[in-house]
Amino acid sequence: MKTVAVVGSQWGDEGKGKIVDLLAADADVVVRFQGGNNAAHTLVVDGEKFILRLVPAGALHDRKVCVIGNGTVVDPMALAEEIDSLQSRGRFQDDALLRLSFDAHMVMPYHRAIDRAREARLGKNAIGTTGFGIGPAYEDKMSRMGLRFDDLANFPAFTAKLERNVREKNLYLKSVLKAKPVSGTEILAQMRKVRGRLARYLCDTSVYINDAIGAGRRVLFEGAHGVMLDIDHGTFPYVTSSNCGASAVFGGAGLAPGKLDGVLGISKAYTTRVGGGPFPSEIKGKLGDALRVEGDEFGSATGRPRRIGWFDAVLARYAARLNGMWGLALTKLDVLTGVDPVRICVAYTVAGQRHDEIPPSHRRLEKAKPIYEDLPGWSEDLTRARSLSELPANARRYLERISETSGVRLAMVGVGAAREATIVLENPFLV
Ligand code: IMP
Repeated sequence: MKTVAVVGSQWGDEGKGKIVDLLAADADVVVRFQGGNNAAHTLVVDGEKFILRLVPAGALHDRKVCVIGNGTVVDPMALAEEIDSLQSRGRFQDDALLRLSFDAHMVMPYHRAIDRAREARLGKNAIGTTGFGIGPAYEDKMSRMGLRFDDLANFPAFTAKLERNVREKNLYLKSVLKAKPVSGTEILAQMRKVRGRLARYLCDTSVYINDAIGAGRRVLFEGAHGVMLDIDHGTFPYVTSSNCGASAVFGGAGLAPGKLDGVLGISKAYTTRVGGGPFPSEIKGKLGDALRVEGDEFGSATGRPRRIGWFDAVLARYAARLNGMWGLALTKLDVLTGVDPVRICVAYTVAGQRHDEIPPSHRRLEKAKPIYEDLPGWSEDLTRARSLSELPANARRYLERISETSGVRLAMVGVGAAREATIVLENPFLV
């Protein structure tokens, strides 16, 4: 395959960054197509830890072109800081390696202020957003008052639009949300500065990507978040404000359907989520706490502790159907070492009735009780295994059941944080 999308099949944080980083070795171009710096990919390369929020994970390889497509929402200050930080660590030295869409919308300080003030007012009903202004930025895109990188080309016109927006947002912040207004003058000064810094990356990214495909180059589309956080198909309202599945590649990167050869889903060997919302296979108590520590399950973007649960095959089937998954990469299998039994949620019961699919009303998901299949655990260290035959029989059995109950072939299995700690069964770029 020449064009491959990597998408999360749970609630985000599946370890997509590591898999994208691994696949980027065989790609020429890596593209972000949705979301913003609410995503955070933790990568360990040569023992060094990197957290990428906006820059695609190809940035940690030499000479890979990274593209931030039109479907993303980009905080310009956060992007400039991320590039500076990568460059100060000796990475990503050539400006030609980053392409930023003219059409991507900018996340402005008033978006962050609104996001945080709304969450504070919701109290115990809060969504648990990252607070980075992502939802309010997508709202402005849809209401056609958002500001795009393209607007920066004509600074006087940009200034007028910004002032209009600041007036309206401050009215809302003060009168409705009872929050502090933002300073238009400060925002303008920041934007004047960052404009010159980012102008060199701007390009028609749809043309760039399509030309690259036409020239026979391999393109990797890097999804952020996960299907259960999708604005349409996730656990609304406890979702993010974009489509996170493979279908978002077409709108978010300017690619025609049919030009995407395959989709690789990423899932943890268990499940996590941050923020509020239903989570049928959640593990509460000591085991959940122990797995949180063992798996270092604290948000890369916000540091929040993640909720922990068993692998949920109902979710995996849902994600496979919505994304047309060619295969599944399972991450962090090593974290389950020492857990006995290991459980797979194979179906739910809701009000005494069995559901093999996610119940049609997501509100009913709140009431879903998991039906588990228990399998014997293993105690051997997995982190050095590089083939299935090097895994203990019980770990192999667990993987087989995950594939069977999800209905998807396993393409990769992660057994540790480092790039090389991965069992590659099938590389989508090499099939
Ligand atoms: P927002 O995207 O900041 O608006 O947050 C909405 C919901 O999506 C919250 O529950 C967040 O915790 C969750 N979320 C957003 N991005 C990610 C991610 O990359 N990983 C995990 N959860 C995320």
